[in-house]
Amino acid sequence: MKGVVLAGGLGQRLQPLTRITNKHLLPVYDKPLIYYPIQMLVDAGITDIMLVTGGNYAGDFLRLIGNGEDFGLSRINYAYQKGNGGIAEALGLTREFVGDDKLVVVLGDNILENGIATGVEAFSQQQEGSRIFLKAVDHPWEYGIAEVDGSRVKGIVEKPQNPTSDLAVIGVYMFPPEVFDIVNGLTPSARGELEITDVNNAYIERGQMEFEMVDGWWLDAGENYEALLQANITVARQAGIEI
Ligand code: G1P
Repeated sequence: MKGVVLAGGLGQRLQPLTRITNKHLLPVYDKPLIYYPIQMLVDAGITDIMLVTGGNYAGDFLRLIGNGEDFGLSRINYAYQKGNGGIAEALGLTREFVGDDKLVVVLGDNILENGIATGVEAFSQQQEGSRIFLKAVDHPWEYGIAEVDGSRVKGIVEKPQNPTSDLAVIGVYMFPPEVFDIVNGLTPSARGELEITDVNNAYIERGQMEFEMVDGWWLDAGENYEALLQANITVARQAGIEI
């Protein structure tokens, strides 16, 4: 199984914090934000990892992470995303790296209390299709929102104005290698991006989407200032710091 960490984008929602750096390099307690998703993959046994970044500060990832020594790795692969073409476009850049393997995609600003090891194990047993993870949220209009019927996902709407549920699709996606054929067929959304939600809906339409609920807290730390602050507090408390 391959791991992909997506850390591109221009961080517009976090200006001026992101004027001179990439949002995934901002601190969360005692580490840069990008450390958490990388560590989460390694903790789940996935050590063959590609990091996709972009913008003006891509070189800083190389200086920070190098060959992945801080994670016990001897090598990390990098890809560069020009511009702001969206999560699915960034995913498309990893096609040759992934080859014929299954893959786990993690957004570079997502942190989970309990990691993804059990989800990765379930996905490795899964016969076909993809797998997503859902968590109830207070502000459903800020996320991809899933409508669920029993054990079936009926559809996902990206940042709905009138949400029909409060179940956010978190930034961890598990795909078979054929996902790249779907990515190749995508057209840009109204905001000019190739949307990961369109990829997931393609699997839902085929009846090839499994989901599970996230156990423990989930943080989309790069969403806005409050989310970044909350991530710092939550991670520090988990480390036993009283704040
Ligand atoms: C992205 C996805 C969205 C998902 C979220 C989770 O949104 O487009 O579907 O719910 O990540 O972190 P973004 O945070 O890039 O706006």
